[in-house]
Amino acid sequence: MKNSFTLKSTKSKSLKGILSVPGDKSISIRSLLISSICFGNSKIFNILKSDDIFSTLKSLEQLGIKIVEEKKYVEVYGKGGFFKNPKKEINLGNSGTGLRLLGGLISSRQITASLVGDASLSTRPMMRIIEPLLLMNSKIEHNNGKLPLKIKNNNGRSIPIKYILKIGSAQVKSAILLASLNIKGQTKIIEKSPSRDHTEIMLKYFGAQIKIKKNEIILNSPNFLKPKDIHVPGDFSSAAFLIVAVLITENSRITINNVGLNFYRTGLLDVLIKMGAKIKITNKKKINGEIVGDIFVESSTLKSIKLSEVIAPRLIDEYPILFVAASFASGISSFKGLRELKFKESNRLVEMADSLKKSGVDLKVEENSLTIKGKIKNKGGTFINTKQDHRVAMSMLIFGLASEDPITIDDPKMIKTSFPKFLETLQKIKAKIDYIPK
Ligand code: S3P
Repeated sequence: MKNSFTLKSTKSKSLKGILSVPGDKSISIRSLLISSICFGNSKIFNILKSDDIFSTLKSLEQLGIKIVEEKKYVEVYGKGGFFKNPKKEINLGNSGTGLRLLGGLISSRQITASLVGDASLSTRPMMRIIEPLLLMNSKIEHNNGKLPLKIKNNNGRSIPIKYILKIGSAQVKSAILLASLNIKGQTKIIEKSPSRDHTEIMLKYFGAQIKIKKNEIILNSPNFLKPKDIHVPGDFSSAAFLIVAVLITENSRITINNVGLNFYRTGLLDVLIKMGAKIKITNKKKINGEIVGDIFVESSTLKSIKLSEVIAPRLIDEYPILFVAASFASGISSFKGLRELKFKESNRLVEMADSLKKSGVDLKVEENSLTIKGKIKNKGGTFINTKQDHRVAMSMLIFGLASEDPITIDDPKMIKTSFPKFLETLQKIKAKIDYIPK
């Protein structure tokens, strides 16, 4: 995307088509990291080709892992957990998942590396991984709990831990699990608020000694992982934008094929169905341990919803687009337990509330909650400062497909971190989103 252009969305109807969305970001990152420590080569099919994946891939190359991109797959030459010290600092760009998971993985591997990121990632909290990793005897220097992180060789002194996760965070859980894979003994993680379990599923698929008992994850190590092929399902978090676009525009219906339907990712489906959305799931099957299926959705009259914090980890990345759906639903919706939204690529609670409010939505933000008074007609006609957050950018562009006047965003660049074909996919189903000069 050229920098001198940006995107504008205009009221649309009759969005129709059968399509697919690119590979899942969380699973793509995990597939690179986990196959890099196998003894031998793994092929990854349908990997997401986005900036966040690219930065994870480049980081592994700096650590001495050979990765070859073929036409239909990416081949990772796993080195059984042996990495070399990188010559330069490792830059994970915008990717919180890439940084936190890689940080965990290398913290017990007897290397020294500095991890940095872009302006947004540099403001995000890292203490949540540093604290458990230090309990495991990792050596980490940090900047008051923020980047850069310097992970140092601890000369094999890592120990397993029993850890109670205070926040429902898959990134923290995964950092601990990836660090533990080669630490002799049993690591136990207790989750008070369960989150996406892609790491557990993939580790089991690769033959790790991992057991899940209710809210306990038990990993016995060391683990010697054998290479396997991985087929990455379509990203539900990308599909979410298309689903809501169809729901809030007239006379629309689409089918999205081959979407990942992991329970901990699909809270949005349950919520939208309760709001009156006409959604059907077909062709459910399991691929490398993950549930995949097709989603059919059509225009629907939505009603409001009241959500407690319990569901938060199951729709954490979908709140921005859910707020858009609630803006067009009849009645008052309320969302509680939104604290974690403040620590994403931007403060998503504040940025979404500001963007919606200035676009005519009647809402109220409190400490960790949001109330939205929805209506069929919302004004729009605004220029949105996305604060370099891909999900704020995409959510507000979808808002513009149903508002009276168009929505223009300041910069489309960050959309490439998760959904590089966002524009093309929406244009394919005849949504009016276009490039305009800045
Ligand atoms: C992710 C976990 C979530 C999510 C992020 C991806 C993952 O973050 O918001 O986009 O792949 O593990 P937290 O673990 O910080 O909640």
